Amino acid sequence: MIGQIIDGTAISAKLRGEVAIAAAALRAHQQIVPTLAVVLVGDDPASAVYVKAKAKAAREANVDVRDHKLPATTTQAELMALVAELNADPIVDGILVQLPLPPHLDSDAVIRALDPSKDVDGLHPTNLGYLAQGKPVFVPCTPKGCMRLLREVGVDPAGLRAVVLGRSVLVGKPIALLLQNANATVTMCHSKTRDLADEVRRADIVVAAIGRPEMVRGEWIKPGATVLDVGINRTAEGKLVGDVHFTSAIQHAHAITPVPRGVGPMTIACLLENTVEAARRRRG
Ligand code: GUN
Repeated sequence: MIGQIIDGTAISAKLRGEVAIAAAALRAHQQIVPTLAVVLVGDDPASAVYVKAKAKAAREANVDVRDHKLPATTTQAELMALVAELNADPIVDGILVQLPLPPHLDSDAVIRALDPSKDVDGLHPTNLGYLAQGKPVFVPCTPKGCMRLLREVGVDPAGLRAVVLGRSVLVGKPIALLLQNANATVTMCHSKTRDLADEVRRADIVVAAIGRPEMVRGEWIKPGATVLDVGINRTAEGKLVGDVHFTSAIQHAHAITPVPRGVGPMTIACLLENTVEAARRRRG
């Protein structure tokens, strides 16, 4: 059996189309233009690529983007002052501070300073708390995109065993909460987990977010499982690969996301969805 390749590019285009319609309706009926402020500090090349992609997708979805590019020498006080200004700006519905920040800056303090009602990344402790309570308001974009992919391939997590590899605040922890809220039985695995292969073998849903190129082997995948690969790793040869060994895993999986063009495109689409939701909540 060969699994279905989950086409994240096509599904994200569908979602961005839905967002564009919702944003256009806000504009037509209430003269509201959903507006996202994007803060990029320093010159990390990967972050610059993401930020550019976000700006383009936003414009196509009738979302206004205000770019704030700050030098790598920006101080904590300067960054906090910008966050305060964006919090107070009535035009700004959503604020995205691109991570990682340069090492001299305290990203936790910056995230805590965000107005939770503008935290379209869902990373403020208030929003993570709502998610933990099972009453989410803004959900982090990559986990939200993963849940949408499951829905699009017709996988209802209720009663299924889900294994999440990685416990980051950006992906692992929130996706585990979302899967629990959707009635899956969730196991969290990480660098100290014993017998990782055995844990993965029991999973009906595997979410890999560990940042280790092709670490999850095809033989570990339970026949008929759904595999979401959040990893983006560049090999020595310059090729992009996920955390899952795709060509062997697809032999066992019911459905699997490729890298690139799997989970990645969903992140931006969900960010735009959260921005329109923020505009509707604040001003609609
Ligand atoms: N860097 C990589 N992914 C993300 C994300 O989803 N949000 C932010 N703010 N930074 C990121």
